[in-house]
Amino acid sequence: MALVIYISCLLDAELFLGSLAFSDCFGRKLGPKLSWKRHGSPKSQDKYSSLFDNRNEDITDIPDSMDALIEEARHKQYDMPTLLRRMKSMVENNEEKVRAAKLQEALYKHYASSGVPKGLHCLALKLTGEYSSNARARQDLPSPDLAPRLTDPALHHLVVATDNVLAAAVVVSSTIRNAAEPEKIVFHVITDKKTHAAMHAWFALNPQAPAIVEVKGVHQFEWLTRDNVPVLEAMESSQDIKYYYHGDHAAGTNISQYSPTILAAYLQARSPKYISIMNHLRIYLPDLFPELEKVVFLDDDVVVQKDLGALFDLDLHGKVNGAVETCRGDDTWVMSKTFKNYFNFSHPIIASTFDPDKCAWAYGMNVFDLRAWRKADITRVYHYWQKQNLQLNLTLWRLGTLPPALIAFDGNVHPIPEKWHMLGLGYNMKTSLEAVENAAVVHYNGQAKPWLDIAFPQLRRFWSKYVNYSNEFIRQCNILERA
Ligand SMILES: *[C@@H]1O[C@H](CO)[C@@H](O)[C@H](O)[C@H]1NC(C)=O
Ligand SMILES: *[C@@H]1O[C@H](CO)[C@@H](O)[C@H](O)[C@H]1NC(C)=O
Ligand SMILES: *[C@@H]1O[C@H](CO)[C@@H](O)[C@H](O)[C@H]1NC(C)=O
Ligand SMILES: *[C@@H]1O[C@H](CO)[C@@H](O)[C@H](O)[C@H]1NC(C)=O
Repeated sequence: MALVIYISCLLDAELFLGSLAFSDCFGRKLGPKLSWKRHGSPKSQDKYSSLFDNRNEDITDIPDSMDALIEEARHKQYDMPTLLRRMKSMVENNEEKVRAAKLQEALYKHYASSGVPKGLHCLALKLTGEYSSNARARQDLPSPDLAPRLTDPALHHLVVATDNVLAAAVVVSSTIRNAAEPEKIVFHVITDKKTHAAMHAWFALNPQAPAIVEVKGVHQFEWLTRDNVPVLEAMESSQDIKYYYHGDHAAGTNISQYSPTILAAYLQARSPKYISIMNHLRIYLPDLFPELEKVVFLDDDVVVQKDLGALFDLDLHGKVNGAVETCRGDDTWVMSKTFKNYFNFSHPIIASTFDPDKCAWAYGMNVFDLRAWRKADITRVYHYWQKQNLQLNLTLWRLGTLPPALIAFDGNVHPIPEKWHMLGLGYNMKTSLEAVENAAVVHYNGQAKPWLDIAFPQLRRFWSKYVNYSNEFIRQCNILERA
């Protein structure tokens, strides 16, 4: 009960930005109910005050949770005064423990969200095996007669970059199932070298006709070398950065030294996900698809619920990036992001260059006009700021690919209506279900990804309805539909 409220408050915390995090979960959620704690001192005139006098309590033996207390009360058959006295002891002795528990929770959540669940690992392994043993899993994607469509600018091109086969399957099949004109859809799935065979096998064995799907590995883009992508080289080769991101995340972390907020931000920034080339790839879209004029880029943690055809007819008014702005909207928590949420405005370079109140926008569902992009300076600016931040030991910003993109696309963003892209399903458990149902694309940004155990149960079904649980590989890997 109380513990459950406390835990759900922690889950509620926004690890995504590390900005709001866990402040006062205990006090905020339980405060009013436990307010007798302060008023119930022995000096108070409160007629119950003697009940709360716990000075003789054995402090080595105090239950550490509501559940433990209730268990103890049941076991020892406490009367109400004893129960209340024990409860008071528990609360008073809990402040430090609560802090420690919050820190533990941050650590657990970090591990729970950065590890690959067994089922997904199994799926990739089994499909890789299938690729080598089954010619059908290796067949051309798409078949050679359809290959000209891959570069036909008149079609609807969508791109997803991921090393998660199940996530890619959901993004692709949800898009196609909800498309008014699926025959116009060309999906470009980009993955890394280790996942390439598995990803190919999945889409070869699960054709999406009349739409077509191509699967590319980053290793197949010859120009995507260290020379052309200096930032990636810098990130991979710098010993400091390597340690910073890949070092053992717990070793040497004396967690009691950090506030939960800082620890959460710290762990999040160290997640390998933020240097994954998959995440940086989108900044090379004009070069990855030199023949194309417009693409919709989707993150792998989205579900498409409506026809996206209109996005391809959308006039971006000469801008490069059609995106949903995140500084205003009905959800005042999720939609309250400006530059100051992403950058270190204590740093003079940031403070003198940017406006802290400038509206941010979201990655995850973007329409990119590649013709306008090729005329703009976006990729160079992105590289420039990435390098600056690396040279300054990541003091300009800490997290991910959005901050340099906020800079690089500055002045080149065309705001699109909020209903196109609903955010926060991976960190806001109070997401409105009605709003989810009405959104064209829902985005599980945050740690509670729908394929993880820590997903919010009421939000998972919007994703899992697109998983083919009768597929033999999914069954063999024991990936089960959850209630
Ligand atoms: C961790 O930090 C706390 C507070 O700074 C200190 O009391 C404790 O001894 C440290 N523990 C270790 C193992 O370094
Ligand atoms: C970055 O950190 C390294 C070592 O950790 C240090 O030698 C260097 O001076 C730092 N650079 C800046 C700009 O603070
Ligand atoms: C922000 O910038 C200031 C000034 O350079 C620096 O001292 C501080 O460590 C930075 N904060 C973070 C979180 O990097
Ligand atoms: C699910 O996968 C099986 C193959 O294992 C396939 O026969 C079936 O058509 C798929 N269902 C959907 C809805 O894609």
